[in-house]
Amino acid sequence: MTSTTHKGRFVTLEGIDGAGKSTHAAWLAQALIDRGRTVVATREPGGTPLGERLRDLLLAEPMTHDTEALLMFAARREHVEHVIRPALARGDVVLCDRFTDATYAYQGGGHGVDAKRIAALEDWVHGDLVPDLTLVFDVPIAVSRERLDRNAAAGHTLDKFERERASFFERVRACYLARAAADPRRCRVIDSSRPLDVVRGELAAIAAAL
Ligand code: TYD
Repeated sequence: MTSTTHKGRFVTLEGIDGAGKSTHAAWLAQALIDRGRTVVATREPGGTPLGERLRDLLLAEPMTHDTEALLMFAARREHVEHVIRPALARGDVVLCDRFTDATYAYQGGGHGVDAKRIAALEDWVHGDLVPDLTLVFDVPIAVSRERLDRNAAAGHTLDKFERERASFFERVRACYLARAAADPRRCRVIDSSRPLDVVRGELAAIAAAL
């Protein structure tokens, strides 16, 4: 896999809440470290001190959908500038738990913010920076809901997005799958409803090819 704009590898991880993305992200990071790669594992919204403060607001406070999109990109601007670009310039692998596809999927698909507006912000905030690889962890809504409900029963407080109804997640999922289908060179859909070790086998092959 080659990239023309930076030395490192920019990998983003996406999927609806409850798709198992965070579990797989941690495993993939370790698999890459075991292969001798320097990995910067980070997340959005967040990844910088200011970004993490914005994350707290975004995941808890009611706000208009436009405000949500704008704050996501404000946090992203800090993240790209202070964390992602420097790491890619050093030649590291950046594993980013969510990036701009999430804004298209959640604020666009889920909440109806016009994709043209999101595209304008994308251009402003990280115009020439595109992930080398985006893994879309995909599960049916019923599976993700069950996982979220299990977490809630175990005492984990669900955030603002995790409390959304099934129809919201159907739209988010459809948007992710449409984006992946439109950009198959960058995006790879991973069926995350399969047993953990089967998904890990696929991730191991991806780590070897990065
Ligand atoms: P998530 O990545 O699921 O973290 P955790 O595994 O700790 O719960 O949580 C981030 C939430 O933010 C998720 O519900 C999706 C949402 N989000 C957006 O709506 N738009 C975005 O642009 C990003 C980056 C995240």
